[in-house]
Amino acid sequence: MNTIEFYTDLIETEISNIYMPELPSNLYEPIRYILALGGKRLRPVLTLLASEMFEGELKSALAPAIAIEIFHNFTLVHDDILDRAETRRGKLTVHKKWNENIAILAGDTMQYLAYNYFCEIEDKYLKQCLLLFNKTAIQICEGQQLDMDFETNSQVTTEDYLTMIKLKTAVLIAFSLKIGAIISGASADDSEAIYNFGLSIGEAFQLQDDLLDCYGDFTKFGKKIGNDILANKKTYLLITALNLSEPQQHKKISYLITNEIDEAEKINRMLTIYDSLNIKQLTEAKISECYEKANYFLAQINLPQTRKKNLENFVQKLLARNF
Ligand code: IPE
Ligand code: IPE
Ligand code: MG
Ligand code: MG
Ligand code: MG
Repeated sequence: MNTIEFYTDLIETEISNIYMPELPSNLYEPIRYILALGGKRLRPVLTLLASEMFEGELKSALAPAIAIEIFHNFTLVHDDILDRAETRRGKLTVHKKWNENIAILAGDTMQYLAYNYFCEIEDKYLKQCLLLFNKTAIQICEGQQLDMDFETNSQVTTEDYLTMIKLKTAVLIAFSLKIGAIISGASADDSEAIYNFGLSIGEAFQLQDDLLDCYGDFTKFGKKIGNDILANKKTYLLITALNLSEPQQHKKISYLITNEIDEAEKINRMLTIYDSLNIKQLTEAKISECYEKANYFLAQINLPQTRKKNLENFVQKLLARNF
């Protein structure tokens, strides 16, 4: 088994070697910029770990892993426009450093760059992988649309939220694992089990992201703390606060959501309400619940425990992250 550092370094090297023309520089410079900004490289590492688990060849898993990371970075470039986000990975977002039109086109181009890498998948798995990729990409768009629709909907339930994050986040994490399994010759049952494992990990991952958006440290998280509160995102935190609050406190939350308030004050007042309702602890409990569900699916994979260890350790650390 290889170490996680080995895999992360390999992904980093491959990404720095992606060929891109110099011109037009306003198209390629933003792509180089976002790809070089780092990030956890979580999804490609998951592909490599799934492949390792099913004894696939590393060199066959590398191209789809890179495809997925390029695609993920495209979703971030467009997501930051949708979310009016100014910082990512500690630096300016693409649309802030350049402008929205440039960010849209850079994102579009990245999707096709991703396809170039997907096309390196062995012929016998290619069609299945591409169809699954297209399905996943469409689901992400559905999730992103729901996420935006929910900003102006005060009736969003926990169930609605879970559906939304499954689509916008969990399916790509599940896909990253399943691709690694498929191209390594895993059985249909095992590929499905690792996909379901990924869905639960993905849910936990998005819950953790929502938590860090409120309670994280900018220097580590790299995104503006409180952005979800400012954008009236119906996160698990906000929905749980709305569900648990008594009428008077419920009114205060509604006031914060519907009125123009100074940014820092809005964030502070919302966090004070969250604290009084133990929202942080409740979100952590929900993350643990997802993690347990994930482990149930991991146990279904028909391989000895020792072969699952690397993936298991990686995921455990991932969900305890502060970045
Ligand atoms: C950010 O993904 C988008 C979410 C699904 C929360 P990551 O947290 O994996 O972002 P990077 O790639 O590490 O920056
Ligand atoms: C991530 O949701 C979903 C996608 C990028 C598809 P967020 O909007 O929470 O991600 P961050 O927090 O901006 O990274
Ligand atoms: Mg978003
Ligand atoms: Mg966002
Ligand atoms: Mg977020």
